[in-house]
Amino acid sequence: MATILVTGGCGYIGSHTLVDLIENGFDVISIDDLSRSSAYAITGIEKITGKRIKNYQVDLKNFDETLAVFQENVGIAGIIHFAAYKAVGESVEEPLSYYENNIFSLINLLKCAEEFEVPHFVFSSSCTVYGSPAEVPVTEDTVWQTAESPYGATKQMGETIVRDVYRGGRGSAILLRYFNPAGAHPTTLLGESPLGKPLNLVPVITQTAIGKLPGMKVYGDDYPTRDGSCIRDYIHVCDIAHAHTLALLYLLEERNTESTEVFNLGTGNGITVLEAIRMFEEVSGEKLNYAIGPRRPGDVMAIYANNEKAVQQLGWKIQYDLREMMRTAWNWELKVKEAEERARKN
Ligand code: WQD
Repeated sequence: MATILVTGGCGYIGSHTLVDLIENGFDVISIDDLSRSSAYAITGIEKITGKRIKNYQVDLKNFDETLAVFQENVGIAGIIHFAAYKAVGESVEEPLSYYENNIFSLINLLKCAEEFEVPHFVFSSSCTVYGSPAEVPVTEDTVWQTAESPYGATKQMGETIVRDVYRGGRGSAILLRYFNPAGAHPTTLLGESPLGKPLNLVPVITQTAIGKLPGMKVYGDDYPTRDGSCIRDYIHVCDIAHAHTLALLYLLEERNTESTEVFNLGTGNGITVLEAIRMFEEVSGEKLNYAIGPRRPGDVMAIYANNEKAVQQLGWKIQYDLREMMRTAWNWELKVKEAEERARKN
């Protein structure tokens, strides 16, 4: 079966995608410099799939080291590029590190793909390319506004770079625009392991509930939404992972009609921050310690997807709802705590 190179394979979405690719018969290799992830993810992937995974601990900003991976693995049929910094709030505080990391990594990877004639490329994009959309839900044709954060700007630039590289018809590419990934693998052997303090809502909720964080802030309840808090489209990480397998099959079977195609990966349901908190409390039975704080720079008020294109053209079927996202995220947090307590005793 075809060998697929996954960058960021030890990360949250990358690790879940490696599992899905293996379960669908692909051979895989990973490049992950472990700067924002843990090799512990490899253990989880191997336990779930029973397969050994090779991860090259390489910084994609180092062209020679990245090229060496391609030299060692000739015949790669496709690349899925996850490796990037992805925290909206953090990118507002550290724009240069976001531009340097996310753009230089992509360019090096595309140069290697060109040199080794890798025919198919799947790019991890984001709903942040839409900026603050004039109307919701957004479709793939929704006109971009100015990105609200440097993170979103790197995804807008990344999409443009990939389009231009593949416009020449040398191969084919897909841009997958994720909405808000959440949840963990149902086996609880894999989940979101943000190194250091989490920045995304769901790991902040679960780490607050388990006591790792003393409390949490809801960043604004004065938006013109149904309860004043921001609206997002939370999508289970396993649903996102499977969409990558479907995207690769779409390209390998040459069902694409253009050299680069775009798909929204969201459920189509807009959920407010306070509704997400209430669902977590219902699923976990825990009362969450949160307070209302000021709005966060870089946040958009509301965004959620029209996902019909991915459903119809990729054959994507969403398996998990918000309840399952919160349940699997909480089960994962409990498992991590148990493992940490065992490690402390030994
Ligand atoms: C969600 C909502 C916050 C933390 C994410 C990814 C990004 C991209 C888009 C894939 C916002 C609120 C959060 C907290 C809060 N996805 N919040 N208190 O900013 O939508 O971006 O989805 O590419 O990579 O990061 O996600 O989870 O940070 O915020 O109130 O402690 O939760 O204001 O409304 P965001 P998020």
